[in-house]
Amino acid sequence: MQVMRKVRITGTGMYVPPRVVTNHDLAEMMDTNDEWIQQRSGIRERRYVDPGTGPVDLGVEATNRALEMAGLEAKDLDAIVVATLSSEHEFPGNSCFMQAKLGIPEIPAMDVRCQCTGFLYALQVGQLYVASGIYDRVLVCGTEAHSPGLDFTTRGRAITVLFGDGAGAVILEASDDHERGIQSVHVHADGTHAKKLWTDAPGLGHHPRISHEMIDEGRHYPEMDGKFVFKHAVLRMPQVLQEALDANKASIADVDLFLFHQANLRINEYVAGALEIPPEKTHNNMQVYGNCSAASIPMCLDECVRSGRVKDGDLIAMTGFGGGFTWGSALLRW
Ligand code: UT7
Repeated sequence: MQVMRKVRITGTGMYVPPRVVTNHDLAEMMDTNDEWIQQRSGIRERRYVDPGTGPVDLGVEATNRALEMAGLEAKDLDAIVVATLSSEHEFPGNSCFMQAKLGIPEIPAMDVRCQCTGFLYALQVGQLYVASGIYDRVLVCGTEAHSPGLDFTTRGRAITVLFGDGAGAVILEASDDHERGIQSVHVHADGTHAKKLWTDAPGLGHHPRISHEMIDEGRHYPEMDGKFVFKHAVLRMPQVLQEALDANKASIADVDLFLFHQANLRINEYVAGALEIPPEKTHNNMQVYGNCSAASIPMCLDECVRSGRVKDGDLIAMTGFGGGFTWGSALLRW
Protein backbone atom coordinates (compact mmCIF):
# COMPACT_ATOMS: atom_id res chain seq x y z
CA MET A 1 0.00 0.00 0.00
CA GLN A 2 1.21 3.49 -0.84
CA VAL A 3 2.43 5.38 2.23
CA MET A 4 0.29 8.43 2.86
CA ARG A 5 1.79 11.69 4.11
CA LYS A 6 0.64 13.31 7.33
CA VAL A 7 -1.36 16.50 6.78
CA ARG A 8 -1.37 19.49 9.10
CA ILE A 9 -3.35 22.69 9.31
CA THR A 10 -0.68 25.40 9.20
CA GLY A 11 -2.96 28.43 9.08
CA THR A 12 -6.52 29.37 9.98
CA GLY A 13 -8.55 32.46 9.19
CA MET A 14 -12.08 33.78 9.41
CA TYR A 15 -13.96 36.80 8.23
CA VAL A 16 -17.43 38.16 8.91
CA PRO A 17 -18.93 41.26 7.30
CA PRO A 18 -19.15 44.30 9.61
CA ARG A 19 -22.96 44.77 9.59
CA VAL A 20 -24.47 43.41 12.83
CA VAL A 21 -28.15 42.41 12.70
CA THR A 22 -29.71 41.73 16.11
CA ASN A 23 -32.80 39.73 16.96
CA HIS A 24 -34.50 43.07 17.68
CA ASP A 25 -33.68 44.25 14.15
CA LEU A 26 -35.35 41.11 12.73
CA ALA A 27 -38.40 41.67 14.96
CA GLU A 28 -38.95 44.94 13.10
CA MET A 29 -39.20 43.06 9.79
CA MET A 30 -41.26 39.98 10.78
CA ASP A 31 -43.35 38.54 13.58
CA THR A 32 -40.57 37.25 15.84
CA ASN A 33 -38.89 38.31 19.04
CA ASP A 34 -35.55 38.14 20.82
CA GLU A 35 -36.86 35.82 23.53
CA TRP A 36 -38.11 33.16 21.07
CA ILE A 37 -34.89 33.21 19.05
CA GLN A 38 -32.58 33.05 22.07
CA GLN A 39 -34.60 30.37 23.85
CA ARG A 40 -34.88 28.11 20.81
CA SER A 41 -31.43 28.63 19.27
CA GLY A 42 -29.12 30.66 21.54
CA ILE A 43 -28.61 33.23 18.77
CA ARG A 44 -28.55 36.96 19.68
CA GLU A 45 -27.18 38.50 16.52
CA ARG A 46 -25.55 37.67 13.21
CA ARG A 47 -23.63 39.48 10.44
CA TYR A 48 -25.00 40.29 6.99
CA VAL A 49 -23.18 41.29 3.82
CA ASP A 50 -24.04 44.60 2.20
CA PRO A 51 -25.02 44.70 -1.48
CA GLY A 52 -21.90 44.32 -3.60
CA THR A 53 -20.28 41.81 -1.25
CA GLY A 54 -20.80 38.08 -1.66
CA PRO A 55 -19.51 34.74 -0.36
CA VAL A 56 -16.50 34.96 -2.67
CA ASP A 57 -15.33 38.20 -1.01
CA LEU A 58 -15.82 36.70 2.45
CA GLY A 59 -13.89 33.59 1.42
CA VAL A 60 -11.00 35.64 0.03
CA GLU A 61 -10.72 37.63 3.28
CA ALA A 62 -10.70 34.47 5.40
CA THR A 63 -8.15 32.88 3.05
CA ASN A 64 -5.79 35.86 3.26
CA ARG A 65 -5.83 35.62 7.06
CA ALA A 66 -5.14 31.87 6.94
CA LEU A 67 -2.32 32.36 4.43
CA GLU A 68 -0.76 35.01 6.65
CA MET A 69 -0.78 32.67 9.64
CA ALA A 70 0.80 29.92 7.53
CA GLY A 71 3.46 32.35 6.32
CA LEU A 72 2.40 31.79 2.72
CA GLU A 73 1.13 33.81 -0.22
CA ALA A 74 -1.77 32.86 -2.46
CA LYS A 75 0.70 31.92 -5.25
CA ASP A 76 2.08 29.17 -2.96
CA LEU A 77 -1.23 27.25 -3.08
CA ASP A 78 -1.53 24.18 -5.30
CA ALA A 79 -5.32 23.73 -5.14
CA ILE A 80 -8.40 25.27 -3.58
CA VAL A 81 -11.47 23.47 -2.27
CA VAL A 82 -14.43 25.65 -1.34
CA ALA A 83 -17.41 24.39 0.65
CA THR A 84 -20.49 26.53 0.15
CA LEU A 85 -24.24 26.33 -0.25
CA SER A 86 -24.47 30.00 -1.19
CA SER A 87 -23.26 30.01 -4.75
CA GLU A 88 -22.88 33.51 -6.17
CA HIS A 89 -24.06 32.18 -9.52
CA GLU A 90 -25.61 28.90 -10.66
CA PHE A 91 -22.33 28.08 -12.35
CA PRO A 92 -19.42 28.16 -12.17
CA GLY A 93 -19.06 27.70 -8.43
CA ASN A 94 -17.56 30.10 -5.90
CA SER A 95 -14.15 28.40 -6.01
CA CYS A 96 -13.43 29.64 -9.54
CA PHE A 97 -14.38 33.21 -8.64
CA MET A 98 -12.28 32.97 -5.49
CA GLN A 99 -9.33 31.65 -7.44
CA ALA A 100 -9.56 34.65 -9.81
CA LYS A 101 -9.79 37.14 -6.93
CA LEU A 102 -6.83 35.51 -5.21
CA GLY A 103 -4.91 35.96 -8.47
CA ILE A 104 -3.80 32.34 -8.80
CA PRO A 105 -4.89 31.13 -12.25
CA GLU A 106 -4.43 27.55 -13.42
CA ILE A 107 -4.43 25.72 -10.09
CA PRO A 108 -7.49 23.49 -9.62
CA ALA A 109 -10.52 25.05 -7.96
CA MET A 110 -13.37 22.87 -6.71
CA ASP A 111 -16.71 23.53 -5.03
CA VAL A 112 -18.07 21.10 -2.47
CA ARG A 113 -21.84 21.22 -1.98
CA CYS A 114 -22.50 19.48 1.29
CA GLN A 115 -24.25 22.26 3.20
CA CYS A 116 -23.44 22.49 6.91
CA THR A 117 -21.14 19.45 6.68
CA GLY A 118 -19.39 20.99 3.69
CA PHE A 119 -16.23 21.95 5.54
CA LEU A 120 -15.68 18.38 6.74
CA TYR A 121 -16.23 16.95 3.26
CA ALA A 122 -13.85 19.58 1.82
CA LEU A 123 -11.32 18.85 4.56
CA GLN A 124 -11.33 15.19 3.56
CA VAL A 125 -10.74 16.08 -0.09
CA GLY A 126 -7.93 18.47 0.86
CA GLN A 127 -6.41 15.94 3.22
CA LEU A 128 -6.35 13.26 0.53
CA TYR A 129 -4.87 15.67 -2.03
CA VAL A 130 -1.96 16.39 0.30
CA ALA A 131 -1.63 12.94 1.89
CA SER A 132 -1.39 11.28 -1.51
CA GLY A 133 1.33 13.67 -2.65
CA ILE A 134 -0.70 15.09 -5.54
CA TYR A 135 -0.48 18.58 -4.01
CA ASP A 136 1.62 20.08 -1.22
CA ARG A 137 -0.46 23.10 -0.14
CA VAL A 138 -4.22 23.17 -0.31
CA LEU A 139 -6.72 25.79 0.77
CA VAL A 140 -9.94 24.49 2.32
CA CYS A 141 -12.49 27.24 2.80
CA GLY A 142 -16.11 27.33 3.97
CA THR A 143 -17.89 30.50 2.93
CA GLU A 144 -21.52 31.56 3.07
CA ALA A 145 -23.58 34.66 2.41
CA HIS A 146 -27.03 33.40 3.32
CA SER A 147 -28.70 36.74 3.89
CA PRO A 148 -29.44 37.66 0.24
CA GLY A 149 -31.35 34.35 -0.05
CA LEU A 150 -33.55 34.57 3.05
CA ASP A 151 -37.26 35.39 3.34
CA PHE A 152 -37.60 38.46 5.56
CA THR A 153 -41.38 38.11 5.91
CA THR A 154 -43.08 36.20 8.73
CA ARG A 155 -43.45 33.23 6.35
CA GLY A 156 -39.67 32.66 6.52
CA ARG A 157 -39.11 33.39 10.21
CA ALA A 158 -38.39 29.81 11.34
CA ILE A 159 -35.30 29.71 9.10
CA THR A 160 -34.29 33.32 8.54
CA VAL A 161 -33.57 34.07 12.20
CA LEU A 162 -31.04 31.23 12.38
CA PHE A 163 -28.61 32.05 9.60
CA GLY A 164 -25.70 34.45 9.25
CA ASP A 165 -22.93 35.28 6.81
CA GLY A 166 -19.25 34.45 7.30
CA ALA A 167 -16.23 32.51 6.10
CA GLY A 168 -13.54 30.31 7.62
CA ALA A 169 -10.44 28.90 5.96
CA VAL A 170 -7.55 26.56 6.67
CA ILE A 171 -4.30 25.86 4.86
CA LEU A 172 -3.27 22.21 4.65
CA GLU A 173 0.37 21.21 4.23
CA ALA A 174 2.32 17.98 4.33
CA SER A 175 4.13 17.36 7.60
CA ASP A 176 7.01 15.16 8.73
CA ASP A 177 5.59 15.03 12.25
CA HIS A 178 3.63 11.80 12.31
CA GLU A 179 2.03 12.42 15.69
CA ARG A 180 0.29 15.63 14.70
CA GLY A 181 -2.12 16.64 11.98
CA ILE A 182 -5.42 15.30 10.70
CA GLN A 183 -6.02 11.89 12.24
CA SER A 184 -9.28 11.04 10.48
CA VAL A 185 -12.31 12.43 8.66
CA HIS A 186 -15.60 10.52 8.49
CA VAL A 187 -18.51 11.73 6.36
CA HIS A 188 -21.98 10.37 5.63
CA ALA A 189 -25.19 11.29 3.85
CA ASP A 190 -28.83 10.20 3.68
CA GLY A 191 -30.52 11.61 0.60
CA THR A 192 -33.90 10.18 1.55
CA HIS A 193 -34.34 13.29 3.70
CA ALA A 194 -33.04 15.76 1.11
CA LYS A 195 -36.31 17.70 1.06
CA LYS A 196 -36.44 18.17 4.83
CA LEU A 197 -33.97 21.04 4.48
CA TRP A 198 -33.66 22.48 1.00
CA THR A 199 -34.28 25.24 -1.50
CA ASP A 200 -36.50 23.95 -4.28
CA ALA A 201 -35.98 26.59 -6.97
CA PRO A 202 -34.53 27.73 -9.24
CA GLY A 203 -33.67 24.24 -10.34
CA LEU A 204 -33.27 22.35 -13.57
CA GLY A 205 -35.63 19.67 -12.33
CA HIS A 206 -38.32 22.24 -13.12
CA HIS A 207 -39.52 23.31 -16.57
CA PRO A 208 -39.04 26.23 -16.54
CA ARG A 209 -36.40 26.31 -13.81
CA ILE A 210 -38.05 29.30 -12.15
CA SER A 211 -41.48 30.90 -12.66
CA HIS A 212 -43.45 33.82 -11.26
CA GLU A 213 -45.68 31.25 -9.57
CA MET A 214 -42.73 29.64 -7.75
CA ILE A 215 -41.55 33.04 -6.59
CA ASP A 216 -45.04 33.93 -5.35
CA GLU A 217 -45.07 30.64 -3.40
CA GLY A 218 -41.62 31.38 -1.93
CA ARG A 219 -40.09 28.22 -3.34
CA HIS A 220 -36.82 30.08 -3.98
CA TYR A 221 -36.33 30.41 -0.21
CA PRO A 222 -34.91 27.68 2.04
CA GLU A 223 -37.43 25.37 3.71
CA MET A 224 -36.89 23.20 6.75
CA ASP A 225 -38.80 20.73 8.87
CA GLY A 226 -37.07 22.05 11.99
CA LYS A 227 -38.13 19.38 14.47
CA PHE A 228 -37.23 16.56 12.07
CA VAL A 229 -33.81 18.09 11.37
CA PHE A 230 -33.23 18.60 15.10
CA LYS A 231 -33.99 14.94 15.89
CA HIS A 232 -31.58 13.68 13.24
CA ALA A 233 -28.85 16.15 14.20
CA VAL A 234 -28.80 15.04 17.82
CA LEU A 235 -28.67 11.39 16.70
CA ARG A 236 -26.05 11.66 13.97
CA MET A 237 -23.58 14.05 15.57
CA PRO A 238 -22.84 11.87 18.62
CA GLN A 239 -22.75 8.77 16.36
CA VAL A 240 -20.17 10.17 13.95
CA LEU A 241 -18.13 11.69 16.76
CA GLN A 242 -17.99 8.27 18.41
CA GLU A 243 -16.97 6.80 15.04
CA ALA A 244 -13.99 9.20 14.96
CA LEU A 245 -13.00 8.32 18.53
CA ASP A 246 -13.30 4.58 17.90
CA ALA A 247 -11.24 4.81 14.69
CA ASN A 248 -8.46 6.50 16.65
CA LYS A 249 -8.81 4.41 19.81
CA ALA A 250 -9.48 7.63 21.69
CA SER A 251 -12.01 8.56 24.36
CA ILE A 252 -13.91 11.73 25.18
CA ALA A 253 -11.40 12.37 27.98
CA ASP A 254 -8.52 12.39 25.44
CA VAL A 255 -10.05 15.26 23.48
CA ASP A 256 -9.08 18.79 24.51
CA LEU A 257 -11.57 20.73 22.38
CA PHE A 258 -14.86 19.86 20.67
CA LEU A 259 -16.01 22.05 17.78
CA PHE A 260 -19.60 21.46 16.73
CA HIS A 261 -21.48 22.93 13.81
CA GLN A 262 -23.27 26.07 14.94
CA ALA A 263 -26.92 25.46 14.02
CA ASN A 264 -28.44 25.69 17.45
CA LEU A 265 -27.05 25.93 20.99
CA ARG A 266 -29.69 23.45 22.19
CA ILE A 267 -28.47 20.86 19.66
CA ASN A 268 -24.88 21.32 20.80
CA GLU A 269 -25.82 21.08 24.48
CA TYR A 270 -27.77 17.93 23.72
CA VAL A 271 -24.85 16.35 21.83
CA ALA A 272 -22.41 17.29 24.60
CA GLY A 273 -24.81 15.86 27.18
CA ALA A 274 -25.28 12.60 25.26
CA LEU A 275 -21.51 11.96 25.21
CA GLU A 276 -20.85 13.47 28.64
CA ILE A 277 -18.59 16.15 27.16
CA PRO A 278 -17.80 18.83 29.75
CA PRO A 279 -19.11 22.24 28.57
CA GLU A 280 -15.67 23.82 29.13
CA LYS A 281 -14.30 21.59 26.37
CA THR A 282 -16.69 23.08 23.80
CA HIS A 283 -16.70 26.40 21.96
CA ASN A 284 -19.76 28.08 20.41
CA ASN A 285 -20.10 31.29 18.43
CA MET A 286 -23.63 31.06 17.02
CA GLN A 287 -24.69 33.55 19.71
CA VAL A 288 -23.02 36.31 17.68
CA TYR A 289 -22.72 34.86 14.17
CA GLY A 290 -25.73 32.55 13.81
CA ASN A 291 -25.50 29.47 11.63
CA CYS A 292 -22.90 30.08 8.92
CA SER A 293 -23.30 26.57 7.40
CA ALA A 294 -20.00 25.39 5.87
CA ALA A 295 -18.14 28.30 7.49
CA SER A 296 -19.16 27.64 11.10
CA ILE A 297 -16.63 24.95 12.05
CA PRO A 298 -13.54 26.67 10.55
CA MET A 299 -14.68 29.98 12.11
CA CYS A 300 -14.79 28.29 15.53
CA LEU A 301 -11.39 26.73 14.92
CA ASP A 302 -9.86 30.07 13.99
CA GLU A 303 -11.30 31.76 17.08
CA CYS A 304 -9.85 29.06 19.33
CA VAL A 305 -6.45 29.11 17.63
CA ARG A 306 -6.12 32.90 17.72
CA SER A 307 -7.33 33.23 21.31
CA GLY A 308 -4.64 30.79 22.43
CA ARG A 309 -7.18 28.24 23.54
CA VAL A 310 -5.63 25.63 21.26
CA LYS A 311 -2.24 24.52 22.52
CA ASP A 312 0.46 22.52 20.74
CA GLY A 313 -0.43 18.85 20.82
CA ASP A 314 -4.13 19.36 21.65
CA LEU A 315 -6.58 16.82 20.27
CA ILE A 316 -9.48 18.57 18.52
CA ALA A 317 -12.72 16.85 17.51
CA MET A 318 -15.10 18.43 15.01
CA THR A 319 -18.59 17.35 14.06
CA GLY A 320 -21.40 18.70 11.92
CA PHE A 321 -24.83 17.92 10.52
CA GLY A 322 -26.79 19.58 7.76
CA GLY A 323 -28.97 19.51 4.68
CA GLY A 324 -28.73 16.48 2.43
CA PHE A 325 -28.86 15.10 5.07
CA THR A 326 -25.10 15.09 5.54
CA TRP A 327 -23.00 14.65 8.67
CA GLY A 328 -19.40 14.11 9.57
CA SER A 329 -16.54 14.35 12.03
CA ALA A 330 -12.82 15.02 12.02
CA LEU A 331 -10.15 14.43 14.62
CA LEU A 332 -6.88 16.33 14.53
CA ARG A 333 -3.81 16.69 16.71
CA TRP A 334 -2.68 20.34 16.74
O1 UT7 B 1 -27.75 23.85 9.92
C1 UT7 B 1 -28.51 22.79 9.46
C2 UT7 B 1 -29.13 22.09 10.55
N1 UT7 B 1 -30.23 22.85 11.06
C3 UT7 B 1 -30.69 22.56 12.25
O2 UT7 B 1 -30.10 21.73 12.91
C4 UT7 B 1 -31.93 23.22 12.79
C5 UT7 B 1 -32.73 22.21 13.55
N2 UT7 B 1 -34.00 22.72 14.09
C6 UT7 B 1 -34.04 23.63 15.07
O3 UT7 B 1 -33.02 24.14 15.50
C7 UT7 B 1 -35.38 23.98 15.67
O4 UT7 B 1 -36.35 23.09 15.19
C8 UT7 B 1 -35.82 25.45 15.38
C9 UT7 B 1 -34.96 26.42 16.18
C10 UT7 B 1 -35.69 25.73 13.91
C11 UT7 B 1 -37.28 25.65 15.78
O5 UT7 B 1 -37.49 25.31 17.11
P1 UT7 B 1 -38.74 24.41 17.54
O6 UT7 B 1 -38.73 24.33 18.99
O7 UT7 B 1 -38.63 23.12 16.76
O8 UT7 B 1 -39.97 25.28 17.07
P2 UT7 B 1 -41.12 24.96 16.00
O9 UT7 B 1 -40.56 24.99 14.61
O10 UT7 B 1 -41.87 23.76 16.42
O11 UT7 B 1 -42.07 26.20 16.19
C12 UT7 B 1 -42.75 26.43 17.43
C13 UT7 B 1 -43.62 27.64 17.26
C14 UT7 B 1 -44.53 27.57 16.03
O12 UT7 B 1 -45.75 28.18 16.37
P3 UT7 B 1 -47.04 27.29 16.82
O13 UT7 B 1 -47.31 26.40 15.64
O14 UT7 B 1 -46.59 26.52 18.03
O15 UT7 B 1 -48.09 28.31 17.08
C15 UT7 B 1 -43.83 28.42 15.01
O16 UT7 B 1 -44.70 28.98 14.06
O17 UT7 B 1 -42.82 28.82 17.05
C16 UT7 B 1 -43.24 29.50 15.87
N3 UT7 B 1 -42.07 30.12 15.26
C17 UT7 B 1 -41.61 31.33 15.64
N4 UT7 B 1 -42.05 32.22 16.53
C18 UT7 B 1 -41.33 33.36 16.66
C19 UT7 B 1 -41.25 29.61 14.30
N5 UT7 B 1 -40.27 30.49 14.05
C20 UT7 B 1 -40.46 31.56 14.86
C21 UT7 B 1 -39.76 32.77 15.04
N6 UT7 B 1 -40.24 33.64 15.95
N7 UT7 B 1 -38.65 33.07 14.35
